[in-house]
Amino acid sequence: MAEIERVGVVGAGLMGSGIAEVNARAGLRVTVAEVGDSAVEAGRSRIRGSLDRGVERGKISADDRGAAWDNIGFTTSLADLGDRDLVIEAAAEDEDIKTRVFGELDEAVGGSEAVLASNTSSIPIAKLAAATQRPQHVIGMHFFNPVPVLKLVELVPSLLTSAETVQRVTDFATDRLGKESIRAQDRSGFVVNALLVPYLLSAIRMVEAGTAAAEDIDNGMVLGCAHPMGPLRLADMVGLDTVKAIADSMYAEYKDPNCAAPPLLQRMVDAGLWGKKSGQGFYSYT
Ligand code: CAA
Repeated sequence: MAEIERVGVVGAGLMGSGIAEVNARAGLRVTVAEVGDSAVEAGRSRIRGSLDRGVERGKISADDRGAAWDNIGFTTSLADLGDRDLVIEAAAEDEDIKTRVFGELDEAVGGSEAVLASNTSSIPIAKLAAATQRPQHVIGMHFFNPVPVLKLVELVPSLLTSAETVQRVTDFATDRLGKESIRAQDRSGFVVNALLVPYLLSAIRMVEAGTAAAEDIDNGMVLGCAHPMGPLRLADMVGLDTVKAIADSMYAEYKDPNCAAPPLLQRMVDAGLWGKKSGQGFYSYT
């Protein structure tokens, strides 16, 4: 089976741009697909900014930044991903959008042996696989934000993913991207979000109940448990819209009240207070 050399990434948001960056830094040729020119421009500057930060922090040389940058191309058409060996979908956490993207990717790659992976945090891989004619080549490949910094990739085979695809993607994640992988069953939230999201929701319920101020809750976990950041700042960084989407998927799967989005989270999302990406969440970023 051919080595994975050409990678496609669907979506250049927070996660997609980070995924494109780590692939390009690993020497892979990357094509990033976005829905329109302004989304392409936003993704381009996000990747550029992160590569620049990598140089400032001494993580990569200026030459490596140039090489990584040269490895990345952009398109507004999923059909342009037809020649890819691996496509990693990182579109919005919305089942309808992701299902449509998988249907289109399936057409684009045709009868090739390309792997179609999803960076979903909580949508069943089996549902995405069912939108294609190639479920044996579909797998979950879940990265963590910030992608260039955090080492983990969760690999999530569906009931129909072939053992060969699992091995191919495991080798790729470790040998080519230099990540550590863990394997999880195709259950909403997989391992990390199944533990993390109820914790974030508990912190939001604490704010709602007036138990403590956001800063005090966060300082409690940073100073008392040595977490790198507190749950409310982390929720802001992940995006409150995304936290709510993951909570909704997990609630639909488990019917566990700990996974139910509290009203404060719902209202903040309704109001466009999506955290760092919108400039305001539990903290202000303007
Ligand atoms: N490229 C490479 N390295 C970079 C970089 C870049 N663009 N930007 C920063 N770094 C490196 C820095 O050099 C530094 O490395 P050292 O520790 O070796 O010096 C490290 O990353 C930390 O960077 P900073 O000093 O800029 O920032 P910080 O110390 O304040 O840490 C943080 C910031 C990495 C975000 C840290 O607070 C953290 O890890 N927070 C928790 C993040 C987390 O839990 N993420 C998971 C979210 S859940 C998710 O993503 C999944 C989902 O589905 C919701």
